[in-house]
Amino acid sequence: MKPRVGILISGRGSNMQALIRAAAQSGYPAEIALVLSNRSDAPGLEIARRHGIAAQAIPSRDFRADRATHEAQMTHALDAAGCTIVCLAGYMRLLTPYFVQHWAGRMLNIHPALLPAFPGLDTHARALAAGIKIHGCTVHLVTETMDDGPILAQAAVPVLPDDTAQTLGDRVLAQEHIIFPMALSHHISGQSVPAESTAALVSPCA
Ligand code: GAR
Repeated sequence: MKPRVGILISGRGSNMQALIRAAAQSGYPAEIALVLSNRSDAPGLEIARRHGIAAQAIPSRDFRADRATHEAQMTHALDAAGCTIVCLAGYMRLLTPYFVQHWAGRMLNIHPALLPAFPGLDTHARALAAGIKIHGCTVHLVTETMDDGPILAQAAVPVLPDDTAQTLGDRVLAQEHIIFPMALSHHISGQSVPAESTAALVSPCA
């Protein structure tokens, strides 16, 4: 039986959709069993259901500052669905050390920057402000430090002279949709992502 994956989202869920599409291929080594959101208005929930995936909101605002109880409910839902791996796909809530330790080595995150550069929010605007020429995205294992942890895959894109945060972000997002399913697949199979599959994405600037 393929390992069952739970995806945590907070919003539109385009990375979630990329994972669902990849897992629909017969040779993919994982099954998407459940999508959870900490926001009941996350558009990704309905998209998941349209793909036939169970999707549930466990609104964090119902728990206010009580992260531990919120996460206990999420763990309960993940366990009930038989999930043994968690993917954070635009999940925008800090996790407690307890939750991180519970899923240690089994929880992947996608971040829209080439970590360790630009952890946190507004990565594309900050990348433009810093004047960097190469930007990208990272899939990594989650540790107790935000946007930190062993890197599983990265993809790079050029920063073009007339880029806005939107155009740069769109270019990065297209790569996120490629490397997240790839990194999950390789992680489950116990392989590292071959460097040549992600390193060659930068094309020269105009
Ligand atoms: C993605 O760009 C993802 O990398 C980012 O949120 C977006 C979610 O989009 N995640 C983070 O910033 C986490 N640090 P999506 O809902 O369309 O996948």
